Amino acid sequence: MKQTRILLLTALLSLTNLFPFTVLGDEVIAIRTKDTELVLRTDEHNYLYQVYFGERLDHPEQMHMTANPARVYPAFGTSYYNEAALHAVHADGNTSTELAYTGHAVEEVQEGVLLTTIDTRDTHYPFFVRFFYQSYYEDNVIEQWVEIRHQEEGDVMLYQFASAHLHFNEPVYHVTQFHGNWADEMHMVENKLTRGQKVLDSKLGIRSNQFAHSHFLLSLDGPALEDAGRVVGGTLAWPGSHRILFDVDEVEELQLIAGINPHASWYRLEKDEVFETPALLYTFSAHGTGEVSRNFHRWAMKHGVYRGDRTRLTLLNNWEATYFDFNQELLSEIIGDAAEMDFELFLLDDGWFGTKHPRNSDHAGLGDWEVNREKLPDGIGYLVEESHKNGIRFGLWLEPEMVNPRSELYENHPDWVIGQPYRDLHLLRNQLNLDLANPEVRDFVFGVVDRYLSDYPGISYIKWDANRFITNPGSYYLPPQDQSHLWIENVRGLMSVLERVREKHPEVFMMVCSGGGGRLDYATLPYFDEFWISDNTDALSRVFIQWGTTFFYPAMALASHVSVVPNHITQRITPLKFRFDVAMSAKLGMDLQPRDMSPEEKAFSKNAIQEYYKIRDIVQFGELYRLLSPYTNDRAAMMYVSDQADRAVVFAYQLKKAIQGNKQPLVLKGLDPDKNYLLREVNKDPGSYSWFTPLEGKVYSGDFLMKYGLRFVMYNEYDSKIIELTAQP
Ligand code: DGJ
Repeated sequence: MKQTRILLLTALLSLTNLFPFTVLGDEVIAIRTKDTELVLRTDEHNYLYQVYFGERLDHPEQMHMTANPARVYPAFGTSYYNEAALHAVHADGNTSTELAYTGHAVEEVQEGVLLTTIDTRDTHYPFFVRFFYQSYYEDNVIEQWVEIRHQEEGDVMLYQFASAHLHFNEPVYHVTQFHGNWADEMHMVENKLTRGQKVLDSKLGIRSNQFAHSHFLLSLDGPALEDAGRVVGGTLAWPGSHRILFDVDEVEELQLIAGINPHASWYRLEKDEVFETPALLYTFSAHGTGEVSRNFHRWAMKHGVYRGDRTRLTLLNNWEATYFDFNQELLSEIIGDAAEMDFELFLLDDGWFGTKHPRNSDHAGLGDWEVNREKLPDGIGYLVEESHKNGIRFGLWLEPEMVNPRSELYENHPDWVIGQPYRDLHLLRNQLNLDLANPEVRDFVFGVVDRYLSDYPGISYIKWDANRFITNPGSYYLPPQDQSHLWIENVRGLMSVLERVREKHPEVFMMVCSGGGGRLDYATLPYFDEFWISDNTDALSRVFIQWGTTFFYPAMALASHVSVVPNHITQRITPLKFRFDVAMSAKLGMDLQPRDMSPEEKAFSKNAIQEYYKIRDIVQFGELYRLLSPYTNDRAAMMYVSDQADRAVVFAYQLKKAIQGNKQPLVLKGLDPDKNYLLREVNKDPGSYSWFTPLEGKVYSGDFLMKYGLRFVMYNEYDSKIIELTAQP
């Protein structure tokens, strides 16, 4: 990722075929990955154009023949009249900007990662835009961002400051958006674009993905298909308000403009100050959406999530087990039960703190990070010890950026919150945001996390929550003329705190959570091992939520918990096996009170957890292939395949009762056609006949499984199957 890039001096001979070149006096700059190519070119005025984005070309030097190039970063105010990527008002009031190319450089910043930097300057003003294209060769991912600075006498106002503008010229465009709400995240909807604008945006500042996620799929060959057709997948690496704008113009060409949402966020840029935009990450596939996902996953495990090469731990979380109602004895018992079932960690959730204003509900105590001795007389240290005595690790919930007005923190620092003078406090979940534009507040937030991790080195895991978005967007810290900077300064504050936490506590596992999946992006994830995608733990809902999530994010980082029935959110009753089989397709955890389980359920769970350990490496590090979408089938199925295609695991879920039996074949993918695979059912239900039994222990070739497929019948709603495939020597 750009924040952590390592600059290596270019020992580049082996990579010469990746490099830009000059032809016919024009600069032609090719940004390449293994299979894709983005070609830029200058003209006789030195204006910079995008001339191609798509499959890798054999002869990009022929790009000087291109008929209809589009400006790389169209700016407001000159001959360009459509939606602009940049709108700056110069110190003398001139509202226009005309950027011209002045040079570029390429360096290898890591093995297989090239950074192409292109400099432009306004044709009149000392106003500079530098473009960054970081290309990840093996993963086919491009990371693009911009730096803006000037040396004018006076401030420049920025009104539009996109991270990237991409241009397409196709007869038809289809966009898949991902939207939702609390406990209802990641719905996928595809629409054909028509003339005009389609905007996917958030104005929430924090928890910015709550309604609209900053991820998209753009299909260029009709509705997107899993294994065919040209598709661009993109996601903005920014945990604040975002805007992804698709504009089909008067000649049916498409401008895609992505970046921080400029809404109410105009920026006063001082002389020599560098304004850096977040990055747009995108990948192009000529073979459908499956490849888009695999590109992102491969990239993420190397660059996009914290320590993407480390095995993620199973855990039991007490949130749905107890909510705020617990004490030391009850937690000790749960820790014992978690260990008995072979979980690796116990996670203590909300409600353990607050003395003057105890956190016994979400109405009070947030911000007062002193242990509540009435609930926990021996403090956090005791629970850490209890966990260790039971042979498991301990994790702690924090929501350090937030405060209840009923707290000592708010009583002492009312000016630390985001809010506007003369306006009523607007509470969401009875709480306010702390103002991370304020360095004192940043220190406080860092201090909360640092204190617990330093005082209790036995804490292995932090769940970092954030349960509201920004309203009343004012800062008591920022000067009057910079109030509109709050949206950006707050994110910068968060990033600086995360940076400090990771610098001092590199070993701790961290989960990012935001009342579910409100904060999920590739700016935040490089600091976190995993994320909580939804407070909705109902297994049927999760089939859909996780389906959408894994278009961009790897299953290794997606925490999925088995919870009680009827489910607390949906009231749905599903079998324990189905709940496990859904959670085992990602990072397995549990969110229920073991005391309420029967001995049979405990035994089943213990066995399921052991089964998860047997397939965990394939789920967490394998390549994902989607087989049957829950959106279009009564049976949903996907599979993970190990690196060498010597192991695979298939998940199938029956979503609707099939009176005559659902016999949809699972035509497998990603296997080696020449290998022979032994089939084994994982996490069998001892109490019921398995329609898979006739296939148990049989061996089939990869070729057969990828043509004829795996065929077994499923009848009941919430039937599920996990099948492990092991290549035979
Ligand atoms: C919202 C989270 O998503 C839940 O898992 C839980 O941690 C609660 N917050 C605690 O308040």
